[in-house]
Amino acid sequence: MKILILNGPNLNLLGVREKSVYGNRSFEDYYEELKAAFPALELSYFQSNTEGTLIDKLHEAGFGAYKGIIFNAGAYTHTSLAISDAIKAIDTPVVEVHISNVFARDAIRHKSMMAPFCTGSISGFGLESYRLALQYFERLKPKQI
Ligand code: DQA
Repeated sequence: MKILILNGPNLNLLGVREKSVYGNRSFEDYYEELKAAFPALELSYFQSNTEGTLIDKLHEAGFGAYKGIIFNAGAYTHTSLAISDAIKAIDTPVVEVHISNVFARDAIRHKSMMAPFCTGSISGFGLESYRLALQYFERLKPKQI
């Protein structure tokens, strides 16, 4: 089962940026652990700081190429109507993830433009938010998605 992990702006700086919020591990390092933990899933990873590139990737992945998308849209979560429209447009189920607990942070982060069009949202478990999303896809029977 092919699953895409898609990371948005500033998430290329994990391990460097605001370590007290996001931890001290790079995503590339954690991704190696995820690949080893889910050998039955064919994982791909893509990161962009650019809204249009993320939308292009959703279009590319969203019509049969992947069975599921795990998407941390970073700050675009709270602002991007275009990204929420793209999630609404595609067929592939999207699980929203956040490393930090966005509901425990400033009010602007409490609103997700994309959440209404996602299968579900996982927030606040550190990098393990991605593992929880993968467990969801791993446990689905092929015909459920
Ligand atoms: C984030 C939360 C967002 O509010 C923030 O803009 C990010 C990261 C998270 O993973 O906790 O860039 O999506």
